[in-house]
Amino acid sequence: MTPEEFNKIGETHRKKRKEYPQNINVCTAAACVSLQSESVKEAIEEEVKKQGREKTCRVSGTGCLGPCATGPLISINDGEALYAGVSVGDAPEIVKNIDKKPVSRLVVSPDSPFFTHQERVALEHCGNIDPESLNDYLALEGYEALYEVLTTMTPVEVIEVIVQSGLRGRGGGGYPTGLKWSTVEKAVGEKKFVICNADEGDPGAFMDRSMLESDPHSIVEGMAIAGYAVGASKGYVYIRGEYPLAIKRLRNAIKQAEKRDLLGKNICGTPFSFDIELRLGAGAFVCGEETALIASIEGRRGAPRSRPPYPAEYGLWGHPTLINNVETFANVSPIIRRGADFYAAIGAGKSKGTKVFALAGSIRNTGLIEVPMGISLREIVYEIGSGIVDDRKFKAVQTGGPSGGCIPEEYLDMPVDYESLAEAGSIMGSGGMIVMDETSCMVDVARYFMDFCRTESCGKCVPCRVGTAQMYNMLTNISTGKGTMHDLQLLEELCDVLKHTSLCGLGQTSANPVLSTIRFFRDEYTAHIRDKKCPAGVCTMEHENEVVS
Ligand SMILES: Cc1cc2nc3c(=O)[nH]c(=O)nc-3n(C[C@H](O)[C@H](O)[C@H](O)COP(=O)(O)O)c2cc1C
Ligand code: SF4
Ligand code: SF4
Ligand code: FES
Repeated sequence: MTPEEFNKIGETHRKKRKEYPQNINVCTAAACVSLQSESVKEAIEEEVKKQGREKTCRVSGTGCLGPCATGPLISINDGEALYAGVSVGDAPEIVKNIDKKPVSRLVVSPDSPFFTHQERVALEHCGNIDPESLNDYLALEGYEALYEVLTTMTPVEVIEVIVQSGLRGRGGGGYPTGLKWSTVEKAVGEKKFVICNADEGDPGAFMDRSMLESDPHSIVEGMAIAGYAVGASKGYVYIRGEYPLAIKRLRNAIKQAEKRDLLGKNICGTPFSFDIELRLGAGAFVCGEETALIASIEGRRGAPRSRPPYPAEYGLWGHPTLINNVETFANVSPIIRRGADFYAAIGAGKSKGTKVFALAGSIRNTGLIEVPMGISLREIVYEIGSGIVDDRKFKAVQTGGPSGGCIPEEYLDMPVDYESLAEAGSIMGSGGMIVMDETSCMVDVARYFMDFCRTESCGKCVPCRVGTAQMYNMLTNISTGKGTMHDLQLLEELCDVLKHTSLCGLGQTSANPVLSTIRFFRDEYTAHIRDKKCPAGVCTMEHENEVVS
């Protein structure tokens, strides 16, 4: 394929999209599907026919538009108007008004801070394209980055762009992506592999799922570019089996890319060949840990092993392997297309670019958001999130899931970047962000996450297997009014033991929710222990259960 031929493909599909002066995009990502968005889409399609507008109005399914809890969401004429909470009965009015004033009772203002404080890079196509259409992706510069890389750049040059962009792994650890790619590129091996980690085990997190449901080709393209850069010809996506829609759309994207020579042998007529296969996980949190994930793909029990050697040198079946998160790969093609400087100009300090979060909890606006690094937590909670529900008092933001911590009010103006979050006793994590108010009990939150860790512990090493169970028991005792101040001291000691002696990240970081809640909300622990009271009124003290006869 010549560059002219490739450009023509994009141009043809751009023109095709413009053939319709009006368009109605109905969100068909999982949250909206669960709110019957597919029936809404069918009703709108029927109405378009009924009102004789087939030649002027295009109806498409799209990916996540962001405020998922208010779904089904619909975007009119490329975001001119956004409708929330749409039902089948609204279809006639929506279609009738397509070239008139928007239906005011359904409108969500695109000028609301929920949208204006965001910056979309990894989510650039989400909500703008049909995730099941390769042509839609091609119309919005899809696969142009891959084509450019294969025809004009050496692998080392590609890696240099990623290094210069400052991109860091979005799976939680924040390891510099360019450095990881460079290590795999330099590693000697007769074969190399690329793995996309789509295990997404943090409770409540849905960023990776949404990206795969909304823009699967961007992950396919990012993986292929990575394969070229590190010298791999085979990629795997390790995706949890509970994500049927993401799996379906990813499979469809891979098939479409293969048919158009964008995957497979001699991609775009170049010597580079790259295939992608899916491997389904069974929902074990530990299988998101890279060495456990590799064991699982190899068909062994998903248990971590000690590192070094790191997968970059000794990975899948002993070969050098690049493992990156879904969001990390989603950032690759925008970086190549728009340049490293564009990406590095967003963000703050050592945290460049944007971060996608699944915003949840006691705030008015929840959903999928992408923000520039360095934004303050206050902006996320009070502007994008529009504040706490029922005007209750803010208590904490939990980031990083079971490996993260709870950040109190005095840190609300702190910038969201890897270093600041770590200083505040939490982590960036993969993007779960739960806002809590005065009705949340911090002991109960710590207990919830410890319950998760003890259940998900693979049991391979003693500190984690026994320690998480012991810590859970102590937290249960405290939350039921049976704990002592000595328990609190023991709890802190155990946290330290787990952090320093566990084999993998699950055990090493499982203490974080406990440590951060003790650090910032110690008075809540002492109230449970000394006063036998839960200040938030969440925990049931044992004496409250006693039946007086
Ligand atoms: C217990 C545990 C679970 C993890 N789960 C995930 C996950 O679901 N998705 C993910 O991308 N990384 C997860 N990680 C981090 C991975 O081990 C690995 O660092 C990451 O996939 C690397 O990609 P990145 O550099 O793009 O972040 C987990 C780590 C631990 C210790
Ligand atoms: S006894 Fe328990 S810890 Fe030991 S190998 Fe069996 S399952 Fe693992
Ligand atoms: S820290 Fe926990 S999850 Fe990790 S290897 Fe040890 S027992 Fe397994
Ligand atoms: S799933 Fe529809 S807006 Fe997010």
